[in-house]
Amino acid sequence: MPDTITITDDRTGKAVTVPITNGVFPASAVAQLDPSLYIYDPAYMQTAACKSSITYLDGDAGVLRYRGYPIEQLAEKSTYLEVAYLLLNGELPDKAQLATWSDEVTHHTFIHENMRKRFVDGFHYDAHPMGMFVSAVAALGTFYNDAKNIHDKDSRDKQILRLVAKAPTVAAMCYRFSAGLPFVYPDNEISFPANFLQMMWKVGEYEIDPRLERAMDVLFILHADHEQNCGTTAMRVVGSSHVDPYSACAAAASALYGPLHGGANEAVIRMLTEIGHVDNVPAFIESVKSGTGSRLMGFGHRVYKNFDPRATIIKKTAYDVFEVTGKNPLLDIALKLEEVALADDYFISRKLYPNVDFYSGLIYQAMGFPVAMFTVLFAIPRTVGWLAHWQELLDDKDQKISRPRQMYTGEGTRNYVDLGDR
Ligand code: CMC
Repeated sequence: MPDTITITDDRTGKAVTVPITNGVFPASAVAQLDPSLYIYDPAYMQTAACKSSITYLDGDAGVLRYRGYPIEQLAEKSTYLEVAYLLLNGELPDKAQLATWSDEVTHHTFIHENMRKRFVDGFHYDAHPMGMFVSAVAALGTFYNDAKNIHDKDSRDKQILRLVAKAPTVAAMCYRFSAGLPFVYPDNEISFPANFLQMMWKVGEYEIDPRLERAMDVLFILHADHEQNCGTTAMRVVGSSHVDPYSACAAAASALYGPLHGGANEAVIRMLTEIGHVDNVPAFIESVKSGTGSRLMGFGHRVYKNFDPRATIIKKTAYDVFEVTGKNPLLDIALKLEEVALADDYFISRKLYPNVDFYSGLIYQAMGFPVAMFTVLFAIPRTVGWLAHWQELLDDKDQKISRPRQMYTGEGTRNYVDLGDR
């Protein structure tokens, strides 16, 4: 017998039976009962807004897979560029496909001189790199008028390639401007993560240790996609208006900027720095629990209610990086926080565990990235996830422009009162 659900309208006695597919039933059942009825679901807690075959999450079991491949295997054996191809195309590339894709990406890393000389140089000297990144991604779209041809597959593929390839260049450019340093041109002869590290620090000033290059690549893999998170939802909502992908990516990056989302890695380091010493951890935890302090940043997740598999991999990567850079002095505070929180009923009962952001900031800081760059480091690889979802959205015949309804709670009709009579 197929899985079905029957919903009855107690006001009329009318009942509608609809199928349950993959744990989801169509909201149109409600419209069949009464077209003037809507579902109230703030923050989309119980809503599947799309079908997707890109990323699978099981929050209770701590499972994350890209196109069916477990994140642990991809983090161990793959590279970011291979994962990017997988996310966009649905299959791992063969040798020739990977060579072509890698070659194309490395030959689209340059950006127009006006972007650097006129656009980025116009920011205030203390502009936040993530704010610059958001604006620069939107501005980049104005250099490619063909980006508006979103129904033309060739044009669409070209914009995807450009955005994936140019994201690290834009990121490094924003950083170097904020640090008062001259721009470093991309190097097409080295790997994607090595090229990014070189654009950040310039060869000679910063020797790229292969272990750091690999750690960067692993971090890119882990951050590449994560189903319908806030930024990806922004990408889909904005993309559903059929705007060009640069504008949609800028919207997604804006969502990522927030401290409850990609901005959490920055917030974690600020929190650890404020705590200052392991002895202060119990008092900090008490302030979190009583609500007098902030939240425990880097803990908790809307979907993961057991553990975040990315956090497990990142914790291991942190130790690989510390072998090269020396231990981040904040590590002991982080470990103590984790230990105290995981033994505390407040966090246990609410199923709050370390998420991807808890340890990533420690790695970034040990590698020399300033705190303000952390969310930008998240945005570089997430760009491919946004684009994979954008592509899927445009090909999905069920999708239309996103346009939810509301539960109106304001005043009824009232007559305007002249200013003098108020
Ligand atoms: N510290 C203390 N209490 C927390 C935390 C936390 N980090 N997270 C959730 N809670 C409590 C919350 O106060 C609530 O308690 P109560 O039931 O007594 O009111 C309960 O746990 C459920 O919280 P929620 O806010 O309803 O859960 P949510 O699913 O809406 O929020 C979250 C998910 C990630 C926004 C939240 O856990 C949070 O704010 N975490 C800290 C910020 C953070 O690390 N964000 C990164 C998320 S992972 C990467 C990404 O998305 O970019």
